[in-house]
Formats: sequence, structure tokens, C-alpha cells
Amino acid sequence: MAFFLLLVMLATCAAVPENLSDKMLTFPQKTKTANVRLTTLIKDFSAVTVCLRFITDLDRAHSLFSLSTRHHHNAFLIFWTASKDECAVYVGNTFATFGIKDYKPNEWHSICSTWDAASGLVQLWLDGKPSTRKYVGGPRITYPIVILGQEQDSYGGSFHIDQSFVGMLSDVHMWNHVLSPCEIQRYMDDLNFRPGNALNWGALECRVTGRVLNEDKQVPCFLSSH
Ligand SMILES: *[C@@H]1O[C@H](CO)[C@@H](O)[C@H](O)[C@H]1NC(C)=O
Repeated sequence: MAFFLLLVMLATCAAVPENLSDKMLTFPQKTKTANVRLTTLIKDFSAVTVCLRFITDLDRAHSLFSLSTRHHHNAFLIFWTASKDECAVYVGNTFATFGIKDYKPNEWHSICSTWDAASGLVQLWLDGKPSTRKYVGGPRITYPIVILGQEQDSYGGSFHIDQSFVGMLSDVHMWNHVLSPCEIQRYMDDLNFRPGNALNWGALECRVTGRVLNEDKQVPCFLSSH
């Protein structure tokens, strides 16, 4: 049994790019250790778009996407605050919060966030709906460490159990530019979209620590009646 579990965990993802298109990452328990570290193909950003899909029933604070640099542990962070109706996006340790009234637990959601250094504006999209655009400023991002499942309070570590993610994550993409509203809509609708040039779920290099499982996406099953 222990051997089987080890094999499952080793197969979760790897140091060579892997196509996770039909997969989701399952974070099945609250820990301060379980995480997936992603390797970005680009190391220097003056703009960012991050998109991902998630499902959870957490009603406490939790991290959805944690990117740190040597200088800022919240260099780009998508974070649900303790209030269920509020999501924060941090850039260079500064943040903007976005009120989200129709967020529901136990449902898959698509979320995207954009930022660019030139305007200093961030925007959050949830399930096809754009937020207002808010100012956070923010320096360039260099040599990022990206972690799913935990929130970094230092460069690559210092996790807090009460900010851990429990649930499933999928379709994580990151670009080094701001996607147009039309491109974001294509992602949200799961149509053909150009995959991320910095993180591509279809060719992802990652490293798993702890109990995180790489499972087939659970797609709706349409039973035929006779
Ligand atoms: C990953 O697999 C999907 C189908 O399973 C395919 O459409 C896609 O092109 C593949 N991506 C890459 C980068 O090979």
C-alpha cells in the first residue's frame, strides 16, 4: 500500500514538461506542507495574466496562486480573504480587494487576474465577469517561485496552515502580457485559447511535496435512457 501510494505521488508531475490537459490536482487535506511548485518558462515579467480553475468548500482564507520573488513574497498572489465575498490580488506586497457576491462553494470556478507595471492596474475575472480595474503599482517580477496549495511568506516557503488550499485545481496558465477580454472569455468558456507562454497546463514542469494527487478531471456523465 505504501509503495502504491509512493508511485501515485511520484507520477503526479515531473521535472520534464507533462501534458496535464485532462487532469486536475487534488489537495485532499489541510496541511502546512502539501504543495506543487511550478517552473515558469519566463523569468522576467512587466505584465502578467494568470488563469486557473478551482473548486473548494473552504470558508476561511486560502491561496489560489502564490508567486514570490527574492524581494516580495507576495509578488503576485491571488488570495481569498477570510470573508467569502472578497478576493485579494497582491502585486509587490501591495494589494487590491475585489468584492464577489455570487461566489459559490462546491462549484468549479474559472478565475483570471491581469496586471501590468506600466499602468499598475490589476483586474480580476470570475466566471466570465470582469471586476473594476484597481491600482496596485508594483515592480517587475524576476525569478519567480510559483506555488499551488500554500501561500508563501518567504521565497519558496514559510507556509501557514490556515492559508492552505483544500480542493481541486486545474488548467493553470500564465502569460507575460495582459490578455484581451476576448481571450479571457475564450479561457473562461474552455474554448480554444492560446496556452500560457510562462505556464502551460499542457506542458507543465512541476514538483510535488506531500499528498497532492494528479487525477483525471471529473467530467459530467450523460447517461442515456432507453
Ligand atoms: C495536450 O493534450 C491535449 C489532448 O489531450 C491536446 O489537445 C494538446 O494539444 C496537448 N498539448 C500539448 C502541448 O501537447
